Amino acid sequence: MDKISNRWRSQIEAREATGTFRQQRQPDRRVDFYSNDYLGLARSAEFQEKLAELAQTMPHALTGPSASRVLYGHNSVVASAEEFIAANHNVANCLLVNSGYNANLALLSAIAQRGDTILIDELVHRSVHDACTLSVATKWKFRHQDLGHLETLLNKANGNSIVVVESLYSMDGDFTAIPRVFALCQQYGAGLIVDEAHAVGLFPRGLVHQYGLQNDVLATVITYGKAFGLHGAAILGSKLLCDYLINFSSPLIYTTGFNAFNAVGIREAYQYMEKNPALRNTLCRNIAHYLSRLSVVDSVQHSPIQPVKFPHIQLLHTAVRGIEKLGLAVYPIFPPTVEKGTERLRICLHAFNTVGEINELCKEINKWKQ
Ligand SMILES: Cc1ncc(COP(=O)(O)O)c(C=O)c1O
Repeated sequence: MDKISNRWRSQIEAREATGTFRQQRQPDRRVDFYSNDYLGLARSAEFQEKLAELAQTMPHALTGPSASRVLYGHNSVVASAEEFIAANHNVANCLLVNSGYNANLALLSAIAQRGDTILIDELVHRSVHDACTLSVATKWKFRHQDLGHLETLLNKANGNSIVVVESLYSMDGDFTAIPRVFALCQQYGAGLIVDEAHAVGLFPRGLVHQYGLQNDVLATVITYGKAFGLHGAAILGSKLLCDYLINFSSPLIYTTGFNAFNAVGIREAYQYMEKNPALRNTLCRNIAHYLSRLSVVDSVQHSPIQPVKFPHIQLLHTAVRGIEKLGLAVYPIFPPTVEKGTERLRICLHAFNTVGEINELCKEINKWKQ
């Protein structure tokens, strides 16, 4: 046992020595420029009250289903939310899953077989990488957003090919040209899976739906822990895909079914967003204002996720301390979450950030980026 704990200790010490030690953090009173609560639903008193009212009317939905969805752990509340979501995204079927991480595991660990090839953008979320480790298929990475490289790999791929991209990348904040990736997949007979964790909400039904490709891709993954301010995820696709997953996907079968009240909350969040389009418009204005105020921009994308790159970790930590002293909360991202040499501040813009707060943030960033 000593050997194991000594190894843990030395790995922790190595992280401390390089300034990359992670700690759990709780929100404080500082202005939020870090969370994925892009539209402010998680902090909205109005939305919270609506959920509280619903909870009063359906206390039976608050507790868990006590079994897997294939062992009576499914119920009419979750089933009807799944139908609502499928109709909203104009797809045949929807499966609610406990988190986005689990949705990617459920999908990618199960759908490919030995001899098939899963081709992933090198910057996709860790859950996709981990899902590929669970799969018996071959995993290949293509260079970020490099369709030429993807095509080279598609040419060499064996078996059925499945391509995985994010529509809005979580660390770089850049968008994928979904129609171009889809056309390439079509040309090579490959299936396309799009993780829409950060795009849904910014685009009411995500980017795949925006392009009208929701019934052409193999599957879309939506998460509810970001712009929706809740928890959980949905896999959207055909009835055949959903039947297959319910039968063959371990991460979906060997786990307790979806919490009914969370399903009610998700449905409510769709309706809340629909009734409050101003949230999206304000967020878009805030993004444009942020970009207009920076003297050096590391990303020109009109995105709520804005990386600010630093040449080394020490400088990044000093900048974070300077920004936090102003009462603004930001978060540094360093390896292994991003590649060495690309450490950055991951600025998240929200509908609730004020122009004054954004000005103050940009003024401080400009000092570091001269
Ligand atoms: C692109 C992407 N996919 C999936 C996830 C996982 O989602 P969840 O937090 O619901 O597990 C994240 C979370 O940050 C993400 O950024």
